[in-house]
Amino acid sequence: MTTTQSEPTTTALAARFPRDFAFGAATASYQIEGAARADGRGVSIWDTFAQVPGKVLGQQNGDVAVDHYHRFAEDVAIMADLGLTSYRFSIAWPRIIPEGTGAVEQRGLDFYRRLLQTVREAGIEPVATLYHWDLPQPLQDRGGWANRDTVAAFTRYAEVAHGELGDLVDTWMTINEPWCAAFLGYGYGVHAPGLTDPRAALRAAHHLLLAHGRAVQTMRAQDRAHRYGIVPNLYGVVTGDSGDPEADRRAADTADVLQNRLWLDATLLGTYPEEVVALQERFGAADAVHHGDLEVIAQPLDVLGVNYYSQHHVIGTEPVPATEPEQAGQEHVEQLPPPHPRTAMGWSIEPHGLRDLLIRLKREWPVPPIMITENGAAFDDELIDGAVHDHDRRDYLSSHIEAVAEAVEAGVDVRGYFAWSLLDNYEWAFGYDKRFGIVHVDYATQARTIKDSGHWYRDLTTAHRAHHAGT
Ligand code: FCB
Repeated sequence: MTTTQSEPTTTALAARFPRDFAFGAATASYQIEGAARADGRGVSIWDTFAQVPGKVLGQQNGDVAVDHYHRFAEDVAIMADLGLTSYRFSIAWPRIIPEGTGAVEQRGLDFYRRLLQTVREAGIEPVATLYHWDLPQPLQDRGGWANRDTVAAFTRYAEVAHGELGDLVDTWMTINEPWCAAFLGYGYGVHAPGLTDPRAALRAAHHLLLAHGRAVQTMRAQDRAHRYGIVPNLYGVVTGDSGDPEADRRAADTADVLQNRLWLDATLLGTYPEEVVALQERFGAADAVHHGDLEVIAQPLDVLGVNYYSQHHVIGTEPVPATEPEQAGQEHVEQLPPPHPRTAMGWSIEPHGLRDLLIRLKREWPVPPIMITENGAAFDDELIDGAVHDHDRRDYLSSHIEAVAEAVEAGVDVRGYFAWSLLDNYEWAFGYDKRFGIVHVDYATQARTIKDSGHWYRDLTTAHRAHHAGT
């Protein structure tokens, strides 16, 4: 259904983007595929974590998810219907190398080959992510990302996946949101593998970055003239007012270092911020950083993926002994309640934060071309009479795409935007409770219904094509 009000908006908005600008949607393997035991897939840390009581809402898991493994043809047809020019997906490591090291599973490669052929036949360009958090469990049994050996295992996996599927994918992202993988997974205990160990978190952060660098080196050596990048999740950090400006500034700095600068300095400058080095020393993780590692981490990149959802608002506080694992290293940082309006995740809706972030990236780092690899929102959708009138999500998307247009007009080289997510799916610790899709999924029947936000997005892609037709 096309809403008449959205037409002028989409036409004007679409006209602000260059011809080759990609409008896509993103997903991740564990969140959509299901078929957890099909075709030799090995066990991942999320299969294990989801079984631990109290870790995931309702102890839900990705065994079935939205059954994309069996329904991918229908899902690709929906992408084509929405007029997407690109599709960002992730490859499940445990489908390709079920034990993490050792034997390669041909049936896993065959699945991605079928998927990618279908995507390409629909005229859609795939963007692959190698690691969207489904680490093979046998590697976790040996320490996972806290163990340097995982770097070599990942590099081989990258070599196999890129070697086998490289004829079908031109853009390869190594690691999705290393902050989440390291800190949520090894530090705060809320994502797999569920550890609360600051030393392990800092080691994991370093090894994820090193794995990124080695994988880029290895894929590039396969000589396919592809594009390679990484996908950090970046935030605006807003300094609040506690009455002590110096303490507030310090707190904002720490939040910024851990969320943004750690990943950007390492990959784009080949350095760690001083505060990170101090934390590595304080928590006994400094020996993880070997001579020459930072040079490997700072491989030249062809693209930077940016996932943006919201901003942090922080003030300084008297350092108190940490009672919660997430306070380790940030005992002097207090997160303020996010301002309204908020999404169903409780995240503040601040599209200007995306514009400011993009402008900052260009100003402060030698950034390659950027793609917004994730942006979107969960709301409490209702499917009524075959429709989801998610105007809150439509407004979220349009205001953020507008923010991207402003950044482009300010001279930032942004090449694409991917809505998170194509489909409602398994939202990690929140199970199936939080819906991010522009397409609704009825989890009982697996029926797909395009939401109003999806119809709006189709208007935008259609207007973008029309605007550049014949140019
Ligand atoms: C990001 C993840 C993605 C999804 C969105 C909501 O942190 O990369 O898988 O869960 O948040």
